[in-house]
Order: sequence, then structure tokens, then C-alpha cells
Amino acid sequence: MNPKIANRDRSSFPIFKSNPTLVYLDSAATTHKPRSVIKTETDFYSKYNANVHRGVYGIAVQASNAYENVREKVAAFIGAATKNEIVFTSGTTSGINLVAQSFLAPQLNAGDEVIISVMEHHANLIPWQQVCLQKNAVLRVIPFDENGVLNLNVYESFINAKTKLVAVTHISNTLGTINPIEKIIDSAHQKNIPVLIDAAQSISSYEINVQKLGADFLVFSAHKLFGPTGVGILFGKAHHLETMQPHQFGGDAIRDVTFERTLFAPPPQRFEPGTQNIAGIIGLGAAIDFTEKIGRKNIFAHTNSLLKIATSKLQNIKGVRIIGNAPEKLAIISFIIGGIHPHDAASILAQRNICIRAGQHCTQPIMDFFDLPGTIRASFSVYNDEVDVEKLIMGIEEVKKIMRFN
Ligand code: ALA
Repeated sequence: MNPKIANRDRSSFPIFKSNPTLVYLDSAATTHKPRSVIKTETDFYSKYNANVHRGVYGIAVQASNAYENVREKVAAFIGAATKNEIVFTSGTTSGINLVAQSFLAPQLNAGDEVIISVMEHHANLIPWQQVCLQKNAVLRVIPFDENGVLNLNVYESFINAKTKLVAVTHISNTLGTINPIEKIIDSAHQKNIPVLIDAAQSISSYEINVQKLGADFLVFSAHKLFGPTGVGILFGKAHHLETMQPHQFGGDAIRDVTFERTLFAPPPQRFEPGTQNIAGIIGLGAAIDFTEKIGRKNIFAHTNSLLKIATSKLQNIKGVRIIGNAPEKLAIISFIIGGIHPHDAASILAQRNICIRAGQHCTQPIMDFFDLPGTIRASFSVYNDEVDVEKLIMGIEEVKKIMRFN
């Protein structure tokens, strides 16, 4: 166990005080929130609640400053060149939709191509698919092998003069596969093709530096980073954001409005019409502080050690088959128990206060590939330790007994 995390860090998370027997193995769906994040949001509402960028009175200035400080904090956290490359969104999904509508759609013509991979979350599949359908463009899908490793030779063969964008996930939310995004970006950039990286699963355990990586766009959600739901980040290289027109319109995103036309504010404001989730965004700042205090490398090391323990224990249970055996994995482990339906297993585990996710995990093409109705998925974070792994293993033995699986 990593000494810096000292067993599981439960004391920072109030949920474990109100629910001490909770075995939470669903951090890939959403992480729990530390006290500091909850307090930061509460402080905003109870001490300086005001809209941002509008008022000149004290608490409005305080709220605006706190909001813009988070933009700077996010820029530093992911190594962006300037805070103007950071757009606040409602989550990973809305960031991808924004790029699909404001960046891709205007330049996509019939016969053009967009490359994604077979392991994409539906959020990094459907937005591109829909734009391609509207424009008679072609969606090309990088395949993977039985272990869940992308075939980069096929990827290379897809890249051509018609390719307008590559959009891939850093880490599969279902298989845990860590994709070689550096190579994927390099290959695309050799042909001047922009790349979007879905960092939803990697943001809490990877020291992502968008400048070193060279990603054109990178998206993630605050709620998988110990932060609030309803907040996300779209990073976009300045020269891309500057050429993009908004696809949602409203107040605070404009420079000048008449009945005949609107001149939009420069990025990032032009992509943030209406009142944003101010409390949530300020809460994201506290979540970044929390993450940095532990250190992303430490989070990775801790959860990776749990992945290794869980993998070897699961491999020893008769009837258990792990889905996704890539050599490089984050602490996400999908499996099935013989022919037991994942939802039956999830219900039995839930009765023991063991929280896992069961189903397709918003990745139906992965399930189709493995010809499965779904999987059971366990994922780990800083508040987990070997005790949780042990409880999961015991829970699986009980599932087998109740379902009469020998
Ligand atoms: N994308 C989240 C998950 O994989 C919700 O569970």
C-alpha cells in the first residue's frame, strides 16, 4: 500500500461516516467527494452566492474571482498554455458535443472521415456518428484484440487525406485499457489531423500535460476527480477555439448584439452562455487541490496495487472470466461469473452494501464484440483498500452459492 495514502483515505470522505460499511467499488462511474469539496460549495452558497461576470458589488466580484481562479487552476493542472484554452462545460459529454458541433460539423463534407475506437464510451461515439450521418461522412472504428488492446496498424492504415478528426479515449471505462495516446496523436499530427482525447477516466490518476501531449482537445468531468457533478472541462488549443463558433447561444457569451447579428465574445466566454454551475466550478478547484495534495502518481500507484490484488484473486475463482486483459490497465476490472447475469450478481452484492456497476457501461460495441449482455465492473480509488477487495471476493462466492453456480 502506498505510504502517502496510508491505507484507505476514508476520513476525508463524509459518506463513509454516515455509511461505515459501504464498500464502494464504482469510482469509474463517479468518485466520492471529500469534505473540502463539499465545504467549498457550501461556503459559496452561504457566504458569497452571486452570479459571475455581471455584478460590481462585493460578493459578485468575489464569486467572479473564485470562478476565474479555477480556470487558472485547471490550466495549470493539465499544463495548458493559457487559461483561455479552458472552457467550463457540464461534463465530458457536453465537451465532446461542443467539439462535434462547433469544430467538426462546419468543416465536414460528404466522404470525409472521422476515426474513433471500438472501446469508446457512447459519449465519444454518438456525437461523431450523428455528425457523420448528417454530412454523409464515414466513421472509421479502430478495432481491438481479445485482450482489449487497440490495433494501431489498422489505425495507421485509416489515416488519410479525408480524415478530419481522431477522437479516442485515454482509458477505457469498461476494460481499463490504457491507450498509447502519445503514439495515436503523433500519427495523426504527421498528417495535420486534430485529435480529441477523452480523459474522463484518466484525469484523477495521470499527470496529463496537454502541451507535451499535443492534444488538440481534451475533455473530462469534475465528478470523476472528487469534484461535483454537472461540471466538466473542455481544453482546446487556442487556435482551434478561436475559429469555432458557439453552438449554444445566450447571455454572457457575447460582445455586441443587435436584431440583425451577434458578435461573440472571445473564447472561452463565447462557449459559456447562460449561468454556469458556479458552485460546482468552484468546487472543482477544491477537488484539484485535494487531488494534488495526494498526488496523481500516488493515486495511480495505490489503485494499481489494488487492481493487481483483485485481478489475481478473481483469476482464482472458478467460473470468473476477466474481460479486458491489456498489459497496461487502470484500476478498472470487468468480469463475468459463468452464465450469471451481471444484474443478478449486482443485486446480491448490493444487499451486502458492495457497490459495483453491472451492464454495458455505455459501451455496447464492447459487449457486442465479446458477445455478452454486460459485465460486472469494479473500480478503485483512494478510499479503497485490500479489505474492500476481500469483501468483493467473498461477495462473489456468495453470488455463486445463491445462484447455484459450481
Ligand atoms: N462513464 C461512467 C461509467 O463508466 C458513468 O460508469
